[in-house]
Amino acid sequence: MQTELIQIIKEAGEILKEGFYGTKETSFKGKKDLVTPYDLAIEAHLKEKFSQTFSSFNIIAEESDNTHVEFGDSIIIDPIDGTTNFVNGLVHCAISVGVYKNKKPFIGIVYNPILDQLYYAEIGKGAYLNDKKISVNQDHELMTSLIATGFPYTGATHKQDLEFVITNLEVILPRCQDIRLLGSAALDICMVASGIYGGYYEINLKPWDVSAGIIILSEAGGKISNIEGKPYDMFEDKCLVASNTQIHDEMLSLLKA
Ligand code: IPD
Ligand code: CA
Ligand code: CA
Repeated sequence: MQTELIQIIKEAGEILKEGFYGTKETSFKGKKDLVTPYDLAIEAHLKEKFSQTFSSFNIIAEESDNTHVEFGDSIIIDPIDGTTNFVNGLVHCAISVGVYKNKKPFIGIVYNPILDQLYYAEIGKGAYLNDKKISVNQDHELMTSLIATGFPYTGATHKQDLEFVITNLEVILPRCQDIRLLGSAALDICMVASGIYGGYYEINLKPWDVSAGIIILSEAGGKISNIEGKPYDMFEDKCLVASNTQIHDEMLSLLKA
């Protein structure tokens, strides 16, 4: 299944690339939440090919109405993670596809066609960037770890979400090597998996932001939880905490819900 998935995602990557280097119309789904015709075209391409090739799976996709799709044997798609970057010409954007069998993680693929970086993992088989095996770094202290986070779009409309961002920056920033915010949750999690970041946290993520990344990170030796340290539920939990495993408890002890 992995080879066919990758082939289809690479085809969709050509659409992303065309849009990235071309002119694009944009519209807003929310106060800050952008969508372009390329999000829709990539999603349509993936849905058509996946439903032909993997007919026993249903599809949950960001730009679709998922009301009647029950999570089970499912392919979860984010056609462009990092749409704000895509629109502004910042290279940190990717197609994210997570495959679940009976609600259990199976295959995760995150593809940045601009940098030609393909992260993938299948449960039990390790995590890879292009053809190279990746693993989390060995930093065991927050102070020597580079940390990533994101700004939720809802920070513009929900005061408590903006407060989460500010409060936790105040707590984490002085206690880590530095913080980066590049605007693609899927790639941020993959960069914990490849050992660049020691950890990452964010609120209000959706299943399509993380469905693939969490599989890749767990296969790379990382840890994912909610803010209480319990297993992260991508449909229910507000906050995701991801790390190289070693600094996980330290992050949990500092982050404030
Ligand atoms: C967004 C990105 C961003 C995160 C937002 C997501 P989108 O996804 O992952 O990093 O901060 O919460 O919604 O809208 O570009 O697919
Ligand atoms: Ca996304
Ligand atoms: Ca998206």
